[in-house]
Amino acid sequence: MKKILVTGGLGFIGSHTVVELQNEGFEVVIIDNLSNSSENVLDGIEVISGKRPVFEKLDLREKQKVQAFFAEHSNIGGVIHFAASKAVGESVENPLLYYENNLGVLVYILQELLKKGDSNFIFSSSCTVYGQADQMPITEDAPVKPAESPYGNTKQVGEEIIKDTCKVNPQLAAIALRYFNPIGAHPSVEIGELPLGVPQNLLPFITQTGIGLREQLSVFGDDYPTEDGTCIRDYIHVVDVAKAHVAALKRLLNTENTENFEVFNLGTGKGSSVLEVIGSFERVTGEKLNYRIAPRREGDVIQAYADTKKANDVLGWKAKSTLDDAMKSAWDWENKIRKGTEKASV
Ligand code: WQD
Repeated sequence: MKKILVTGGLGFIGSHTVVELQNEGFEVVIIDNLSNSSENVLDGIEVISGKRPVFEKLDLREKQKVQAFFAEHSNIGGVIHFAASKAVGESVENPLLYYENNLGVLVYILQELLKKGDSNFIFSSSCTVYGQADQMPITEDAPVKPAESPYGNTKQVGEEIIKDTCKVNPQLAAIALRYFNPIGAHPSVEIGELPLGVPQNLLPFITQTGIGLREQLSVFGDDYPTEDGTCIRDYIHVVDVAKAHVAALKRLLNTENTENFEVFNLGTGKGSSVLEVIGSFERVTGEKLNYRIAPRREGDVIQAYADTKKANDVLGWKAKSTLDDAMKSAWDWENKIRKGTEKASV
């Protein structure tokens, strides 16, 4: 049985994907530098899937170590590459960190894969590549718009690097998965999102406000041209996102791909506004959420939700959980990790 390398496998989406891979009988090796995760995530993965994956703490920016890893692990049947920096605001402040970590590392991994025979590569991309798309729902052939941040640019350029490499290396097969907004946690409450510091994303900020860790949620603008004035996104349960990675990997391992570089949207196909997400929290928990309307956040698009037809028909995958399902899992997870935690500094 070939091993599957999962870079960033202790992170939010990575850890949920490792669970699904192990549930399907794959042997997994994780590389993670623990910059945005912790080693005890391995315990949660083991409790859920009954198996502790091999883990190597390694910073993929160290090219020699990447080379040594691939030289040691010769029977890697596929790579799912999550390891990357992902904070939009931070990328504006520190672009070179993002270009090195998200693109330099990508080049090193592809260089190692090309030394092997047939290779299968799954890339974490993002709906951010569409910018503000002209039409909703967004299809995979919607034009890629100029990136609003270095983070978004690394996703666009990352896809280009893979596409160009696949074009002249037929032995490399790759799939880019464009995530919309992954949220929630594993229903077992053994793994979930562990945002460091003040959360940038809506969901962890909501659950941290709900549990009293944050004073109040700021809704970034209610004067957008949408039904209730707040931005619309496609919030998708992280377990659904994880299952899509297994479907994509199997597609490549079974050589069902029709081209050696393919792209799929990962969303539910349903858009929800910020106020609707708050409504979901209040419905699921029975608690009012303390929020205020604040000024718009720079760089936010008005709306983004996925056309999921290609992933449904070609990948044979469809998101199953609703916004409320994901919200409940996020709330259960927040309650578990905050037992006894003092209020964090705001
Ligand atoms: C969602 C909506 C905010 C926080 C980004 C990246 C994407 C992916 C997920 C990494 C927006 C509003 C948020 C808050 C708010 N990145 N909001 N108050 O910006 O759609 O996507 O994160 O995986 O690639 O682009 O997600 O959760 O930050 O924001 O009102 O405190 O919630 O304005 O409308 P976003 P988000």
